[in-house]
Amino acid sequence: MNSFLSLLLFSSLFILTLSHNNGVARTPPMGWNSWNQFACNIDQDLLTDTIDQIVSSGLADAGYKFVNIDDCWSYKNGRDNKTNELIPDPVRFSRGIHSLSKYAHSKGVKLGIYGDVGFTTCAGYPGTLDHFQTDADTFARWEIDYLKLDFCDIPKKVQDEPWIYFGYMSEALNKTGRPIVFSICAWQPKEMYKWARKIGNSWRTTDDINVSWQSVLSIIDQNRELYPYAEPGSWNDPDMLEVGVVRDGRSLSQNQARTHFSLWTLLSAPLLLGNDLRKIRDPDQKWVFDILTNRDAIAVNQDPNGAQGRSLYQNIQGKIDRDGNCESKNCTRTEVWGRPLTRPTKQSYAAILFNRAGPNVDDEKFTQEKITIRWSSLGMPSDAKVRVKDIWSNKDLGVYQGSFTSEPVEKHNVVYIRLEQQ
Ligand SMILES: *[C@@H]1O[C@H](CO)[C@@H](O)[C@H](O)[C@H]1NC(C)=O
Ligand SMILES: *[C@@H]1O[C@H](CO)[C@@H](O)[C@H](O)[C@H]1NC(C)=O
Ligand SMILES: *[C@@H]1O[C@H](CO)[C@@H](O)[C@H](O)[C@H]1NC(C)=O
Ligand SMILES: *[C@@H]1O[C@H](CO)[C@@H](O)[C@H](O)[C@H]1NC(C)=O
Repeated sequence: MNSFLSLLLFSSLFILTLSHNNGVARTPPMGWNSWNQFACNIDQDLLTDTIDQIVSSGLADAGYKFVNIDDCWSYKNGRDNKTNELIPDPVRFSRGIHSLSKYAHSKGVKLGIYGDVGFTTCAGYPGTLDHFQTDADTFARWEIDYLKLDFCDIPKKVQDEPWIYFGYMSEALNKTGRPIVFSICAWQPKEMYKWARKIGNSWRTTDDINVSWQSVLSIIDQNRELYPYAEPGSWNDPDMLEVGVVRDGRSLSQNQARTHFSLWTLLSAPLLLGNDLRKIRDPDQKWVFDILTNRDAIAVNQDPNGAQGRSLYQNIQGKIDRDGNCESKNCTRTEVWGRPLTRPTKQSYAAILFNRAGPNVDDEKFTQEKITIRWSSLGMPSDAKVRVKDIWSNKDLGVYQGSFTSEPVEKHNVVYIRLEQQ
């Protein structure tokens, strides 16, 4: 395709459609990805076990349908000399990728793969630049259902006009005729949503997440204003989940993991598990499983209206420095987030009452906080009567007029509620 034609194509995409319409990801994609726990330590046995576990544990029934291979799956030293195609690593993926997708499909789940828009992937494996149609055709022939395309090792032309090159892949995938979720993983350009939503099903909005509370908070803050850009088929991607991930001895606490998951569901984020599913049925992982399979939280994420949650108010008392530490005798830092839902009725909403406190949960300058939400902040009449259901305790809390005030919320924890206007 010459670049004038592609520019024309791209600008017509620009004018004709607001969001990407390849028929898939009408609700945020849910599944698993190998990177957060395993990085490059992946092989076909891990993938096969993960497919088995995602099905037998009940995670697939809860909605987690994609099993996505991240970086390091291909033959590192080059493409096939005759066809120019990517080659699965001959040792770690000796049975090939197509056999894995057939296995996934036989179990009722889907298979995703990873590539890079530049010369090489982030871990140094062959990239897709100048091979967009070849790779799209290979992935389609392998019956791949999801492609994450990364942004490492790019020449200046890609850095300057990333939409052109991600656009090539979007077109190449379309030409295969196979509906493939297209996950754009370009984390550097600002205001990605301006172009990415027209050519991809999701786009990363930040640097990589890592297993730290600081990373989770930083990503929440960077996604605060992005709610206008999410809609069915096109999602802001605040990166994959760290719930239950243990890496270099670090993990999130249970409250932090619950908060992370609550926000990601409210933000209409793709829900891609990062933890080791071979351990998901161990007794000490029950809390992880319970967080990840909460029906109401998932129902918020998967609501057909695709409305990304927004920050409704922040209550900051006392003097708090840039890192979030309290510089006065005591401080309060709470946030309220919310969004409309269409289920169970058109007058339904979800809200999160979040005691953010300071960066260190042991800091005694912050304490538990009761947090209030006024119905008017969600666009309901100020005297509305609203039934409140607590998502994490699974309790009906009754009907409240005008507002609701929670019991004291622990630090780094949330009260997550579903609301139905009466
Ligand atoms: C392609 O050819 C080069 C040079 O002959 C060789 O070193 C390389 O291993 C070949 N690659 C593959 C994937 O066969
Ligand atoms: C290709 O693009 C057209 C036009 O947007 C769309 O109708 C069609 O569903 C797409 N097909 C695939 C496989 O993505
Ligand atoms: C984790 O992410 C935070 C926030 O972006 C960053 O400051 C920190 O350096 C990261 N830590 C690691 C180990 O990469
Ligand atoms: C917090 O500090 C303020 C003023 O420094 C004081 O009036 C208030 O009683 C303190 N609150 C608590 C809960 O310690």
